[in-house]
Amino acid sequence: MKKIKFGTTNEEVSAVVFGCMRINGIEEKAAQSIVEKAVEVGINFFDHADIYGKGECEEIFGRVLKNSSLKREDLWLQTKCGIRPGTFDFSKEHIISSVEGSLKRLGVDHLDSLLLHRPDTLMEPEEIAAAFDQLHQEGKVRYFGVSNQKPLQIELLKKYVGQPLQANQLQFGIKHTGMIDSGIYVNMTNEPSVDHDGSILEYSRLNDMTIQAWSPYQYGFFEGVFLDNDKFPELNAVLAEIAEKYQITKNGLASAWILRHPAKMQVITGTMKEFRIEEIAAAAEINLSREDWYKIYEVAGNKLP
Ligand SMILES: NC(=O)c1ccc[n+]([C@@H]2O[C@H](COP(=O)([O-])OP(=O)(O)OC[C@H]3O[C@@H](n4cnc5c(N)ncnc54)[C@H](OP(=O)(O)O)[C@@H]3O)[C@@H](O)[C@H]2O)c1
Repeated sequence: MKKIKFGTTNEEVSAVVFGCMRINGIEEKAAQSIVEKAVEVGINFFDHADIYGKGECEEIFGRVLKNSSLKREDLWLQTKCGIRPGTFDFSKEHIISSVEGSLKRLGVDHLDSLLLHRPDTLMEPEEIAAAFDQLHQEGKVRYFGVSNQKPLQIELLKKYVGQPLQANQLQFGIKHTGMIDSGIYVNMTNEPSVDHDGSILEYSRLNDMTIQAWSPYQYGFFEGVFLDNDKFPELNAVLAEIAEKYQITKNGLASAWILRHPAKMQVITGTMKEFRIEEIAAAAEINLSREDWYKIYEVAGNKLP
């Protein structure tokens, strides 16, 4: 399994992350089996959020951990907080109570990392700083980060928050490339030249923040999976051809495409199929050629300038 350093730390984590958002969609026995399979193929990083399945996903994972021979210290457990039904909430009170709820559901005494899930425009950064200080001092959270945030939002947090912000979880994949498009189409006036994310890719690289690519197989915002989808015949044909060349599968290739980027990202896969976990892990080590990487980018619908 390919490893990366988490943010500015010296902690080595797997480049492939097991996303737990859909774990309540399968039987608990199958959940146990796929988590064990993930560890077997070298994945040590598990991503949660307090809201996944309204807490059910963390609860299931907690029981899986308890009923398996997996050791807590071998796993990196990350969760996210800040989304409540009908509101975003980065208040100190909510952050602390959310983490306490996650720890209870997961059945552990600390999180390896905590991310703020999606920006709360009503946030008071001083409150976030106070919440992070308390959680860190109490030994409940080791590292902190954000999700879906732009550089200036991160800079605003950094003015107050004492702990380094180590990761930013962002949607990225073959059919969701806004983060890199604006850098490729720079100084042009067409749609892809529009910088929606404030040069977040370059900012993350400059600041050694780990980008965690979420929903790598989806197109649009949860519109569906592009793999084996009749809407994208040309893309699937090219993926099949390139996958064969590297002796991996299309699922593996779609992850390898993300991991090939020198920004040293993690890819968060959401599959609940053991065979796909194996395919994705097997492809993590593949180093795609520059030509193949750009060929996939183009056939996904991006005409190079
Ligand atoms: N920070 C955020 O705002 C945010 C938002 C969303 C998600 N996330 C994180 O990202 C993780 C991954 O998200 P995701 O589950 O949307 O990611 P994903 O890996 O893009 O999608 C997983 C889904 O795609 C299906 N799939 C994969 N390959 C397929 C294929 N070849 N044919 C048909 N279906 C296929 C899987 O089905 P099978 O189970 O059958 O393989 C599963 O339902 C989440 O678990 C969560 O940790 C974060």
